[in-house]
Amino acid sequence: FELRLHEQFDDTIARDQRIEPRDWMPDGYRRTLIRQIAQHAHSEIIGMQPEGEWITRAPSLRRKAILFAKVQDEAGHGLYLYSAAETLGADRADLTQRLIDGRQKYSSIFNYPTPTFADVGVIAWLVDGAAICNQVPLCRSSFGPYARAMVRVCKEESFHQRQGYELLSTMMRGTDHQRATVQDAVDRWWWPSLMMFGPPDGDSPNSEQSMAWRIKRHTNDELRQRFVDMTVPQAAALGVTLPDPELRWNEERGRHDFGTPDWSELHRVITGDGPCNTERVARRRAAHEDGAWVREAASAHAATQAARARE
Ligand code: ACO
Repeated sequence: FELRLHEQFDDTIARDQRIEPRDWMPDGYRRTLIRQIAQHAHSEIIGMQPEGEWITRAPSLRRKAILFAKVQDEAGHGLYLYSAAETLGADRADLTQRLIDGRQKYSSIFNYPTPTFADVGVIAWLVDGAAICNQVPLCRSSFGPYARAMVRVCKEESFHQRQGYELLSTMMRGTDHQRATVQDAVDRWWWPSLMMFGPPDGDSPNSEQSMAWRIKRHTNDELRQRFVDMTVPQAAALGVTLPDPELRWNEERGRHDFGTPDWSELHRVITGDGPCNTERVARRRAAHEDGAWVREAASAHAATQAARARE
C-alpha cells in the first residue's frame, strides 16, 4: 500500500502538481520542508532586528512610516511561514524553542550590524533583492502551502526592494558624505548578500534531493548568478561600485563573471560565530520570555471563549 502511495507522490511531482498537507509524503520530504520553512520563518523574524534598530532614529516621519511597515511585513512573513510549517505537523512553540536554543538555523545575512541609515537602504536593495531572486522560484515549489505563502511574500518583498532603491537614489543625489555612506554600506553588504544563496553547489548537501522533489527549482549557484546579473545595472544606475575587482561582463557566456565569496566566513556565520549572532539570538530569547504573559493571557481568553460557546 505504501508503495502505491509513494508512486502517487512521485507522479504528482513529475506532473508538476502540488503536494498538499493531507497527501501522503515521504518522511524525508516532510523533514526537508520543515527544515527549510522553519529556517525561512526564523530568518524573517530575526531579520526584523537589524533594520528595526533604525525605527526610532529614522531621519523623517515618512522614512519612519515606511520602515515600520516593512519591519511589520517581515513579522507577517514569519507568521505565514510558521503556519505553513504547522501544516506539516511542526509545532510553532517547539520551532521557536529550537531557534533560541541554537538548534535551528536562520539566514547568515542577519548577523551583520547596521551602523548607518544607509544600511537600511542597502539591506532593502541587496538583501531583499537576493531574497526575491531566491523566493520567486519558490512560488512554484511542490508543497502547496509554502508555494502559496511565497506569492504574497514576494509581492511585499518587491515593495521593500523598491523603497530601498528609492532611499539610496535619494541619498546618492545628496551630499558627498551621504554618497560615501551609501558606498561604505554597499562595500559591507555585497559579499554577505552573495552568501545568502548558500554554499557553492559542490558543497550543498541538500540541493540535489530538494531539486528532485521540486522544493528548490534552481541550484544555489544558478540563483547567485541571476542576482549578480540583475544587480550590476542597478548599481550602475545608482552610481555605486560593487566591491569585486573580478566583476565583468562575459560576452561569451552572456553573464557576468564575478569573484569567489569567502566561504570560510559563511561557515563561521552559519555556525554561530558571525559579528552579531549572540546579540540576535539573545534579543529573540528575551522577546520570547517577555511575551510569556501575553501567550498565557491569550490562552486563558481562548479557553474562556470556548467554555462560553459550549454553555
Ligand atoms: N544562512 C544560513 N544557513 C545557510 C545558508 C545561509 N545563507 N545557506 C545555506 N545554509 C545552511 C542550509 O540551511 C543547510 O543547513 P542544514 O542542512 O543544517 O539545515 C546547510 O547550510 C547546507 O546548505 P544547502 O545544502 O545548500 O541547503 P539548502 O538546500 O536548504 O539551501 C537555501 C539553502 C538556498 C537558503 C534554501 O534553504 C532556501 O532557499 N531557503 C528559503 C529561503 C530562505 O530561507 N531565505 C531566508 C533569507 S531571506 C529573508 O528572509 C529576507
